[in-house]
Amino acid sequence: MRKIYIFDTTLRDGEQSPGVNLNTQEKVEIALQLEKLNVDRMEAGFPAASPGDLAAVNAVAKAVRNATVIGLARSREQDIDAVRQALIGAQDPCLHLFLATSPIHRKHKLRMEKQQVLETAEAAIKYAKKYFSKVEFSPEDAGRTELDFLCEVVAMAIRAGATVVNIPDTVGYMNPSEFGNIFKVLRENVPGIEKIQLSAHCHDDLGMATANALAAVLNGADQIEGTINGIGERAGNTSLEEVVMALETRKEFFQAKTDIVLSEIYRTSRLVSKLTGMVVPGNKAIVGANAFAHESGIHQDGMLKEKTTYEIMSPETIGLKDSKLVLGKHSGRHAFREKLIDLGYTLNDDQVNAAFAKFKDLADKKKDVSDEDIRALIEEKLIVT
Ligand code: KIV
Ligand code: ZN
Repeated sequence: MRKIYIFDTTLRDGEQSPGVNLNTQEKVEIALQLEKLNVDRMEAGFPAASPGDLAAVNAVAKAVRNATVIGLARSREQDIDAVRQALIGAQDPCLHLFLATSPIHRKHKLRMEKQQVLETAEAAIKYAKKYFSKVEFSPEDAGRTELDFLCEVVAMAIRAGATVVNIPDTVGYMNPSEFGNIFKVLRENVPGIEKIQLSAHCHDDLGMATANALAAVLNGADQIEGTINGIGERAGNTSLEEVVMALETRKEFFQAKTDIVLSEIYRTSRLVSKLTGMVVPGNKAIVGANAFAHESGIHQDGMLKEKTTYEIMSPETIGLKDSKLVLGKHSGRHAFREKLIDLGYTLNDDQVNAAFAKFKDLADKKKDVSDEDIRALIEEKLIVT
């Protein structure tokens, strides 16, 4: 089975979430947890952005021993020099360079012709190669770049010495078939493509970041970039926990695997949420509070008979204790009876039926019925003495 490299950018693109600011200690704490999660590569920040970020990237570089630590740079020498300084002490340093290639960015942001873009990126990669053996190059907004020009850019990056070429869907504009096709075209047309790794970096503006990343895997991507809990610019980046669990759950389909320690997923998600202040929505795939919770009677009955009826992966896999059967107005007698047993009550059928009727009355008035509510309902109503 093919290995897919996991490149975590929680500390760089994730930190670009509006309102998020991680100090050095927080970055190191997250980096050490990412190391336990066993990510292959982690982007620690953008050292040219501020002296504080340079210092934080340096602290991460010195603390992390088992993952490649990466610093981001625009295609200019001062930025590359800032990354050189920030990655002093790193066990396995890597520089991530980017330059926009799409017509919109060329015209309005860079005010450069295609040739200038090629020359600027080539000069930056060559300068970077004097100091780094590992250099990743990203044609920013690759998703909206003309495919023939993108092939030229990737070919230039390979010739100049890039070891990874990353294809960013910077504005989350792609759909899976289009994004997958970019990888297919690059694999089939760019000379020397087999010498480098191809990477996918997606944003979630249309809610397709995970689907697009998986389409890239199906079309030859070696690496997926993303963040924990999918945090990042605007609607965020690809959620790494989603991609990792999709590959794990559908291994045979994707014929690909990662080296992630799955049982660290939940802990990592909680830490990132706590330190960034970004709350994980209840219905978030994999790590949301409801991801392994079941409320309806039909589902609860199925779960009590055989968990695989309504769970395609087990909560224990990601480091959670167990699934939850939440009692609410859709819940049925089977789950209610199990809850009574859990709470230590031994009731006969008539008592259970009477209690169940009262529970349904209460559930019509309350969103969630807690254990305390059930105890009160049983004991106050003297269904048992
Ligand atoms: O989304 C993007 O294009 C980026 C690049 C810097 C890779 O984050
Ligand atoms: Zn990005």
